[in-house]
Parts: sequence; C-alpha cells; structure tokens
Amino acid sequence: MSKIDDGIVSNDSANPHFGQLLAARLSRRTLLGGSLGAAALGFLGIDVPAAAAADAVPAGSTGPAAAGPAAAALLGFTGIAASTEDTVRVPAGYRWQVIARWGDPIGALDAAPGTPAFRTDAGNSAEEQALQVGMHNDGMHYFTLPWDNADAAGASRRGLLVINHEYVDQGLLYPDGMQGWSADKVRKSQHAHGVSVLEIVEQGGEWRIVPQSGYARRITANTPMRIGGPAAGHPLLCTAADPEGRQVLGTFNNCANGYTPWGTYLTCEENFNGYFVAASVDADLKRYGVKDRSDYRWHEHDARFDAGQHPHEPNRFGWVVEIDPYAPDAVPVKRTALGRIKHEGATVTTAADGRVVVYMGDDQAGEYIYKFVSRDAWDATDRLRNRHLLDHGTLYVARFEADGGGRWLPLVHGADGLVADKGFADQGEVLVRTRQAADVLGATRMDRPEWIACHPQSGEVYCSLTNNTGRADARPNDPNPRDKNVHGHIIRWRERGDAAAEAFAWDVFVLAGDPASEVANNQGNVTRVNPANTDVFSAPDGLWVDPRGVLWIETDVSTSRLYHPELNPKSTELRNIGNNQLLAADPASKAIRRFLTGPVGCEITGITMTPDLRTLFVNVQHPGEPLGDSEFNDPAKPMKYSTWPDGPAGGRPRSATVVITRTDGGVIGS
Ligand code: FEO
Ligand code: CA
Ligand code: CA
Ligand code: CA
Repeated sequence: MSKIDDGIVSNDSANPHFGQLLAARLSRRTLLGGSLGAAALGFLGIDVPAAAAADAVPAGSTGPAAAGPAAAALLGFTGIAASTEDTVRVPAGYRWQVIARWGDPIGALDAAPGTPAFRTDAGNSAEEQALQVGMHNDGMHYFTLPWDNADAAGASRRGLLVINHEYVDQGLLYPDGMQGWSADKVRKSQHAHGVSVLEIVEQGGEWRIVPQSGYARRITANTPMRIGGPAAGHPLLCTAADPEGRQVLGTFNNCANGYTPWGTYLTCEENFNGYFVAASVDADLKRYGVKDRSDYRWHEHDARFDAGQHPHEPNRFGWVVEIDPYAPDAVPVKRTALGRIKHEGATVTTAADGRVVVYMGDDQAGEYIYKFVSRDAWDATDRLRNRHLLDHGTLYVARFEADGGGRWLPLVHGADGLVADKGFADQGEVLVRTRQAADVLGATRMDRPEWIACHPQSGEVYCSLTNNTGRADARPNDPNPRDKNVHGHIIRWRERGDAAAEAFAWDVFVLAGDPASEVANNQGNVTRVNPANTDVFSAPDGLWVDPRGVLWIETDVSTSRLYHPELNPKSTELRNIGNNQLLAADPASKAIRRFLTGPVGCEITGITMTPDLRTLFVNVQHPGEPLGDSEFNDPAKPMKYSTWPDGPAGGRPRSATVVITRTDGGVIGS
C-alpha cells in the first residue's frame, strides 16, 4: 500500500537482527560463489531431501511435515505464467468471479435490495458508505451457517464472509479526490475502513451477497467497542471521552485476521499510527511511528486523532479485536492481552490441553514475532463460554538463536526487567508498550513479519518476512547475506512440544527471488530447493495452510516496484515476476506453483475456503495503484493503470473478493 512506513525502522534497540543470526548459521555452510543455496537447511542445519528432513523433528514435536500426501497429489494443477495483464488469471480447469467489491451494498436488513447502489463517480455519501462494502479488502474468513453446521456440502453453499478493509485511497474515495477536505469526507473515509460481515450464498454456481440479511453488518472507525483484558481501565487508555478507559470508538487499518475454534473473527489493527498526528512526538509515540503529519488528515475534522489534544487516543489502537459474526448486536472487544503492536494477523491454534495459542507478527522492518497462550482451555460445549478466553494468558516474544533453536520470552510484569523503575508500572503498561517491553527482553528483529500459518498436521508454523530493503538497523560490515532483502523469505519453526511450548527449532523454508537476477543476493533459492520450480515470486505476505496441507502464499510487491512493460519498464528486477499473485507450495517437497495472478497495481491478500474445499476466496486489493509511484491521491490516475473489475465503464478500479471454483466442481488445488 502507499501510505505505510513499515519499511522504516522505529526500533532503536540493540537487539540482534534475525539476518545476523541467519548469516551466522549460513556461514557454517558452503556458500558457493556467495549464493544462497545453503539456506535450504533442514532443521539440523543439513541440506536434506524433504522426506528425510522429517526425521529431523525436534524431540516432542507434533509430527513430520512429510506426513501429508505426496507433492503430485497435493498440487494437482499446472502452474500459470507470470502476468502483467489487467485481469485475474487462474489455472486451466478453474474459473473466477467477483463478489464484495468496494461500494457493493452489504445487504443490510433495513435497506431495500440492491441499495445503496454504488455510484461509479464515487459520489456515495458517508451514510451510504456505512451500508456498503468498505475499501481495500484484506484478511477474511468464511464462517458456516449455523456455526456448528456439520453438513459440509450445505455449509459450503451459504455462509458468512467477514472481510477486513485495511485502508483507503482517499483520492479514489470521492468524485474530486481530496479537494475541499471536509468533515463529511473524513466520515466517509472512516466508514470505508473496518470490517464487513456479509451473508453470501451460492446458486447455480454463482455466489452473491444475500440482501436484507440479519447478519449483514459494517464495523467502521466509529463503531463503539469494548476494551478487554489486563489493560482495560488502565490510566494509559483513559481519555476525556472515556475516563474509565474501557470504551473506544472503532477499528482501522485492519490488515490480516484470525479465527477462533468457537466461531469468532479476529481483526488486527496494523498501521494505526498513520491516522494520528502529534506536534511533539515523545519516545513512546516514536516507537510506534506516530508523526507530526498524517496523510489521512482525519485530525483536521476529528480532534481525537490529534494526539497533542488527546495523548492517550493512540494507545487505544494497535490491538486485536474479537468480533462475533453470528451476533450482529455483540460489541466487538479489543483483546489487550494479545499486545499492542502493528498487528498483521492473529493465527489461532490449540495446545494439547485445549489452551489457545495465537501467533502474531508486528509488520515493520526490525520488529518482532509474538505468541499468546491462554490461561484456560477453550470450551467446545458452548461457544459463548469462550467470551473471556483471550483476556487471560501469557504473551511471549520470539528470540531466534543462531544454532537453529529459539525461545519464547514471556512479557510478564515484575520479571526480566519489566519492572516499575524500568518504566513498566504494571502488566497493563507492559501491554500498552508491548514493543518497548520486547526490546527489554532481547527479542529478535525481523524483516517485516507478515502472516503466520500453522500446518494442521505437522504443527509447523510458517511466517512470511516480506522484505527489508532499508535494513538501517544492520551494523556496518554485517555479513548478513540478504542485507538488502529485496524479495523476502518464509521461515518456519516447530515448537519443542505442543503449541504452548516455550522453545522451538527454526529454519528457512524458502528465500524468494529470481534465479535470473543479475544480483546474486536477489536470486533466492526457489529453484534450488526444488529444481522443478519455475514459478518465482517476491514479497510473500498472506500465508495459509489449508486442511489438505497446501501452503498458500500471497504476494505484495509494493506498487512502486511492480514491473510492467509500458507502465513501469524500469523495474527490471521484477520482470519475470509480474503482477502480484497467489502460489501454492508443498511444505514437504518445497514444490511451489503459481495459481493466480492479479490485475495491474494490486496486491493479493486474504484467503479462506468453504468447508468442502471446493470454493476459494481471495482478495484483490488496490487494483490501479499507480506503478512506480507511491501516491494514489489523483482520482484520474488509477484508471490509467487498471479498470478492474468493472472495465472502462465502471468508473474506478475497485478492491474486491475473487471467488475461485473448479469447472468440474472438484477440490481446489487437488
Ligand atoms: Fe497490512 Fe503488513 O500488511
Ligand atoms: Ca500492501
Ligand atoms: Ca499484509
Ligand atoms: Ca505487505
């Protein structure tokens, strides 16, 4: 996206960077001609075939990754070519349709079917936007109706699709862009953020949004929500409007997501800092990247975004918010026990005893990976009894060791320097200032942790580190072989025990890049880890392991760097990679195949399937974002780059959800 600063470092701690550890580990390997082939390490630091690598499982691990079907059976489609076309491409035997475009009516109970209709000049009012799908779809999840529907076929034809709307391009949001900036324009922007809950149904092979649904709901930057967990009521969360520190308006910059076994949705507040301004930026605001300006300009007409006037308001964002999609009147809850960071996603799994484990990345250059372990086991007998589960537990941050091991360091007040005379008065303050607490513990700085995915059979956890070209935090002469990490990589770890363990073993799953790159550092090892791979990629972001064990990889090369023969011919490093895309990987063989390519200027993000695995949903976010540029505020510009999905008559490019099925109705990917 265009307005984030997650390539900029605001972590000034002396903590080691993951790249230094990786370099130390690789330096013991043969680095032929400075290449990175050695990065295909097994968990014992040995290059081994995938099947043998399964033998290298740490004691107590939940099992080998190679337990799934063989690669041929797992990936049963032919990978597609890279594309710079302004459309969606899928493999032979698959088809796609669009649903839930920005501005589509959500099917609100009280609204006449088809209303409020989208105006192609973006002329819908703020009030209308609050009844329409928001902009820039991101993380999402399909929930069955009802939630305990055991009929996989029926549950796969009608359900709830819950979608994050990460941010907006304000140039695109109004007929005249940001001219005549006003309170109405701010309110429309706020209403285009947040989350959509949509009831969707399949009829005759086509999916559509159900009109006048009792579930249809928009959650926006102004929706009242509750603060839960140890920081609720903390002085750092109190404001003039909320002297108790327990009620807050809204959620925004909702990036990736999570979903719980009791049928709730977790939406994650990522670059919240970009919505606030502070004339004077103190150390705490600086650590989270709040500045003296905001491109969104909400503060000009909504004083709570002026941190000078309302210094605690920024503390009320950067959380994971739990939403019950089955209860339209249920108030969303910010779960402070999960920490305050630039939350990418919140990936939920369970420990052997039923405690809930949530993995979370903090997406900025040089930030950390976290996990939360609940105090109590989840209750399968009554979903509502899990209401407070995410309010009690232990938050940990990851420290990776150069020997391939790692530890989860608990962020618990009173221990390990997290004490009053170091600036942490209590557990609430440890959570509000999660980054600073993790600095104290000596966590490992990473190359922008994005999504995290858990393998349902092996228990392995995968995390995309999307890229880090600045690496301003690298020390001079750092031998880190990917000092300028242009293309990003995916790491994985196995807990030493079950998901609640406090130690793990890690390795690099794949270094993204193009073997044809003239820069050795940018070649990656996609083809080396599996010589059959030709489907190269860059900037892994969205990750999900489906129930069959396929690792789906979604890419987010920034539009300033996306290659296009006419629109951005200078970006030759990305020439063989083209538009952003979705790939499928076999975790055992490391076979990686390109499954979908998106239109010009988009990223591909968000992924979910119906329970029968015959319908796949992914999001096309920000089509038309100008290539080679970092601004998107001229409403005339995007149409030059993309008219997806509606074509030239559609007025504007629109973020949307793409629904993918097989023409023979079969299981996706098989
Ligand atoms: Fe919202 Fe880190 O992507
Ligand atoms: Ca992006
Ligand atoms: Ca992302
Ligand atoms: Ca990204």
